[in-house]
Amino acid sequence: MAIISSDKENEKTKSKENSRENIAPCETDYDRCFENSIRPKTFNEYIGQSQLKETLKISLDASKQRQESLDHLLLYGPPGLGKTTLAGVIANEMGVNVKITSAPALERPRDLIGILMTVKTGEVLFIDEIHRLNKVAEEILYPAMEDFSIDRTTGKGQSTKTLRVPIPKFTLIGATTKAGALSGPLRDRFGIIHRLEFYNNDELSFVIKRTASIIAAKITEDGASTIASRSRGTPRIANRLLKRVRDYATVKADGIITKDIAIKSLDLLKVDHQGLDTTDRDLMKLIIEKYDGGPVGIDTLCAALGEDIRTIEDVYEPFLLQMGFIQRTPRGRKVSPAGYKHLGCKISSSQQNLF
Ligand code: ADE
Repeated sequence: MAIISSDKENEKTKSKENSRENIAPCETDYDRCFENSIRPKTFNEYIGQSQLKETLKISLDASKQRQESLDHLLLYGPPGLGKTTLAGVIANEMGVNVKITSAPALERPRDLIGILMTVKTGEVLFIDEIHRLNKVAEEILYPAMEDFSIDRTTGKGQSTKTLRVPIPKFTLIGATTKAGALSGPLRDRFGIIHRLEFYNNDELSFVIKRTASIIAAKITEDGASTIASRSRGTPRIANRLLKRVRDYATVKADGIITKDIAIKSLDLLKVDHQGLDTTDRDLMKLIIEKYDGGPVGIDTLCAALGEDIRTIEDVYEPFLLQMGFIQRTPRGRKVSPAGYKHLGCKISSSQQNLF
């Protein structure tokens, strides 16, 4: 699996990582290394997303039978659910190589052209955060996706010529947390579009036990389900918590991850029984205490929390919305009655009239 990224982008990610000490599902360099070592390689090893796997297998088998490359595929959904992993599984099942990059690493036209010029027949090109592609890169992608060619310009001024250069037939897999932020023309060029769903507790328990066996951590059935229940439906978080709980079990007990050890360790990490961490609770408390439960604009929330909009929108909100703890309204974010209940807060009389 070839991973292509610019140094500039790596630096940006690193400086963000250093300031973060929580369980948010955003991907760090550390995750990337760890995840690469535990990534499932086949559909059989890949847990969850059963409906998506079933339809994908049909598309894959059909293109194999016709000896064609797979149609371009767009995967969308919250971070940490396994979009990159799935791209690797697809490439492996097709018996081809996968080149991995992300839109922020494709800032200059030559970044993308360089990759497209070296892609081989049938190969998978995975572009993460594809909604962040700039206009120029998008324009380069259109003929590459549609006609498997790229337009190259030569000469200057009046003697400028555009040459259409053919490239091998490849499969683009785009991943995004925000399908709505993709331009219409780009979205329309994907033959297959799928959403990844949050995992249920049984699926996450399987993920945790699978990872535990790879990293040789001893875990009981209810130890795994305790971690699963606090992992916000997200394998990346489940795997991260597993490692923290393993540390706790090593230092405070006999190394075995039991239910009791998992509870003690996760309580210490301030991950509550629904998987909310300090930032989630701070976000909801802020809306309740400072803005009478909302609605409050996202910009105001971000400024007060010291987080950027993308982190709040892509990392924190999807799970809080899924749990029904917050609501998005045209006038901003509100904490729902379920959110108040979770925090043990009383709904003010002015808010009560609004629900
Ligand atoms: N590790 C992370 N995601 C996984 C998945 N969906 N299946 C198996 N192991 C995983």
